[in-house]
Amino acid sequence: MKAKILATIACIGLFIYGFTGIDQPSNPPKEVLEHGKKVFNYVCAPCHGKDGKGDGVVSSTIFVKPRDFTSGIFKFRSTESGNLPTDADLYESISLGFHNTAMPSFSQLTPEDRYALVEYIKTFSERFSNPKEYPLNVVMPTGAIPLSPESIAKGREIYLRMKCWECHGVSGKGDGPAAQRGFKDDWGNKILIPDLTNPNEVKRASTVEDIYLVFTTGLNGSPMPSYKDVLTDEERWHLANYIYALIHGIALYDGKTIEELKSEQ
Ligand code: HEC
Ligand code: HEC
Repeated sequence: MKAKILATIACIGLFIYGFTGIDQPSNPPKEVLEHGKKVFNYVCAPCHGKDGKGDGVVSSTIFVKPRDFTSGIFKFRSTESGNLPTDADLYESISLGFHNTAMPSFSQLTPEDRYALVEYIKTFSERFSNPKEYPLNVVMPTGAIPLSPESIAKGREIYLRMKCWECHGVSGKGDGPAAQRGFKDDWGNKILIPDLTNPNEVKRASTVEDIYLVFTTGLNGSPMPSYKDVLTDEERWHLANYIYALIHGIALYDGKTIEELKSEQ
């Protein structure tokens, strides 16, 4: 009976899902939070810690450290730089996990479990209950430009002009001059820069839309900035096509030096 009531509450939550947590803090029923806590302690705490500080028993054994939820800072979002993630972003992170890190996909958990987890992990940071953080500015990845050699070439020109290569390298292999010095995230942990020519190294960026979101929103808490205010929407779609082509091996870096590539422009 209790399970049935819980499932009903969770379903109502899912029904309004996407509408909560964007304009104002969400206010989930107590039962949902209790359920979220139970699942979290069992499934997530070994990495993220019972208090959500990212210090679970497994954390010392892995290189990319689990997120400290008390900071209220999240990398993969559909919201503008500095904003909190939406409930749907957190739901997606739990469902997909992060490639090339210890965080697996939890798509085998029921939607009710995942919804309850979203609500529960938000309780670790006061940012989520602060009305001043809302409304969140959501970026809609619409208006993609069809993939073509012309679009990819324009994207490469933007990649060079915006100096993505300072970190990612001219070839996208993650060997830019800034990367040689090494990166740390806001929590003081070392982070790796992915080889953008290797689909196994990127954490989330797979579709053109994912890629567009990464450099439009920036990855909060990491050195990866947002380019929303410095590039037009059209430029960002050409750039997304170029990165997509790099990741999926459609257009490979052709071995030219930075000087040669610059002189082509
Ligand atoms: C085996 C370890 C492990 C487990 C278990 C785990 N995570 Fe993670 N999680 C990580 C790591 C590592 C990261 C950091 C990824 C990064 O920085 O790119 C992370 C990051 C996250 C993020 C932050 C994403 C962002 O955008 O910054 C969320 C949300 C998250 N985990 C939720 C969960 C939930 C909920 C569970 C339980 C269902 C869970 N994780 C279980 C290792 C784990
Ligand atoms: C100051 C250094 C820096 C600059 C400049 C930079 N990046 Fe990044 N980028 C990073 C770091 C560091 C990461 C890895 C972050 C992480 O995983 O925590 C990253 C990750 C990425 C990812 C992979 C995300 C994933 O799913 O794993 C893409 C795609 C990307 N950057 C594209 C770009 C593009 C395009 C530009 C230029 C418009 C750019 N970056 C400029 C540092 C930089």
